[in-house]
Amino acid sequence: MSKSKIGPQTWMFPMPAVLVGATVEEKPNFMTAAWCQIAGHQPPMVAVAINKQRYTLKGIEVKKAFSINIPSTELVKKVDYCGIYSGKRKDKSRMFKVFYGAIETAPLIEECPVNLECELKHILELGSHNLIVGEIIETHVNNDCLTDKTVDIKKIDPLIYIPGTQNYHRLGDDIARAFNVGKE
Ligand SMILES: Cc1cc2nc3c(=O)[nH]c(=O)nc-3n(C[C@H](O)[C@H](O)[C@H](O)COP(=O)(O)O)c2cc1C
Repeated sequence: MSKSKIGPQTWMFPMPAVLVGATVEEKPNFMTAAWCQIAGHQPPMVAVAINKQRYTLKGIEVKKAFSINIPSTELVKKVDYCGIYSGKRKDKSRMFKVFYGAIETAPLIEECPVNLECELKHILELGSHNLIVGEIIETHVNNDCLTDKTVDIKKIDPLIYIPGTQNYHRLGDDIARAFNVGKE
């Protein structure tokens, strides 16, 4: 097989497109993030790479709390808006219906079917970005996205982001059962 070296790239396929929430200057603010992933199981941890210029980062560092909100594809315009415009210049505090769980400074978005409430645990300085690591202290899920009390990914219809083409996508077909097909 022939391959080309294309230099060090930050490509990983696919990526989620989530909304990170924080309280900044006493108001909720939301930014779009694709560089977000689960970082541990026991305790449940999540990590998100946030550029040092982001307004949202200020709030996370001051309040030591944040949220990860998983949007459905129908929210694509609002997700993109939160990824284009900074809370430094645009007030994004009224774009969504906000609710709170146990953490008073982690704003959660009602329109997003899944919300993770997070306590800040670590900040790793990595140059342009800080890696924010938080413990998930609660998960909120829309009742109509559950099937037999389990999260139903088809009902969530999560937004997927592809770097390179910079397009948003939705989930494709199931192709096999994980932890199962490999046994064949
Ligand atoms: C699809 C998409 C993904 C993004 N992913 C990230 C990311 O992972 N980390 C980051 O720091 N910025 C990311 N951004 C850029 C921020 O969302 C953007 O700069 C936003 O305006 C920051 O808002 P704030 O200044 O109110 O925090 C992304 C933008 C888009 C459109």
